[in-house]
Amino acid sequence: MAGRVEGKVALVTGAAKGLGEADARALAAEGARVILTDVDTQAGARIAGEIGGVFKQQDVTDETRWQTIIAEIKAEFGALHVLVNNAGIVLPGTIENQSFKRYQLEIAVSANGTFLGCKYAIPLMAESGGGSIINMASVASKLAYSAIVGYAAAKGAVEGMTRSIAAHCLESGYKIRCNSLHPGTINTPMVQNFGRQSEDFTVAAAPDPDTEAPNAAEVGVLGVPRNIANVVVFLASDESAFITAQEFVIDGGMSMLPAPLVNALQ
Ligand SMILES: NC(=O)c1ccc[n+]([C@@H]2O[C@H](COP(=O)([O-])OP(=O)(O)OC[C@H]3O[C@@H](n4cnc5c(N)ncnc54)[C@H](O)[C@@H]3O)[C@@H](O)[C@H]2O)c1
Repeated sequence: MAGRVEGKVALVTGAAKGLGEADARALAAEGARVILTDVDTQAGARIAGEIGGVFKQQDVTDETRWQTIIAEIKAEFGALHVLVNNAGIVLPGTIENQSFKRYQLEIAVSANGTFLGCKYAIPLMAESGGGSIINMASVASKLAYSAIVGYAAAKGAVEGMTRSIAAHCLESGYKIRCNSLHPGTINTPMVQNFGRQSEDFTVAAAPDPDTEAPNAAEVGVLGVPRNIANVVVFLASDESAFITAQEFVIDGGMSMLPAPLVNALQ
């Protein structure tokens, strides 16, 4: 039986660990030819080897590297149908204690990296008959978290540019859809490292990433990367052909619960 993204060529940034790794694995399992990129060459190359994908070293803030990678994909694969702009970083800090340098770094990776990815991938995707762009935002662009001001700003930029890019693709007749994902708290190296920096946050009760993804009924647990990868496969596939310029909040209902209830359940 054909996979859900059989025959598609997919590029996933930040694919060496966490959500990007899960997205790359899920897309490959459903038949896509996957190009994985990351600054972490060792882990990226290992995962690419495990799933039959191709790894390319990439810092998503480097404009020239984006141009080279898209040209290489055109030469090696002849097409590009799916772009997952997943790479991102979080550097905790409030508006008063965050340095401007750290703020700019968060903007550079999440916001500028996504801008560059879309800018240089769209011509090849259009030439390939269209496809799907999936931009990784966060619930941080929707909720009020004092401790991650730069991250919230970067993800807000991703959210806004996603709608503009979707409109541009529609107006241009490209058949390229563009949507943003807004995960809640998912058990990845990013969250584990963040947890170490914050006294009121623990990942001790996190589910094993290899276990089945928790469902929304299990309030208060961390999500697992597969919760996000399932939606990535859906948006990459033709099953979502009529969906563009939308935001997908994937947080087990966390952002919809009034704070006192969330606290009572913890
Ligand atoms: N984990 C969560 O709870 C959560 C929630 C909401 C949104 N997100 C977003 O999902 C994405 C993935 O998060 P994660 O939790 O898997 O993070 P992670 O830190 O576990 O993994 C991120 C990967 O991106 C790579 N990366 C970092 N900077 C890069 C750069 N400049 N160029 C290329 N690659 C780079 C890292 O090497 C790493 O492999 C991020 O955009 C993050 O903001 C995560």
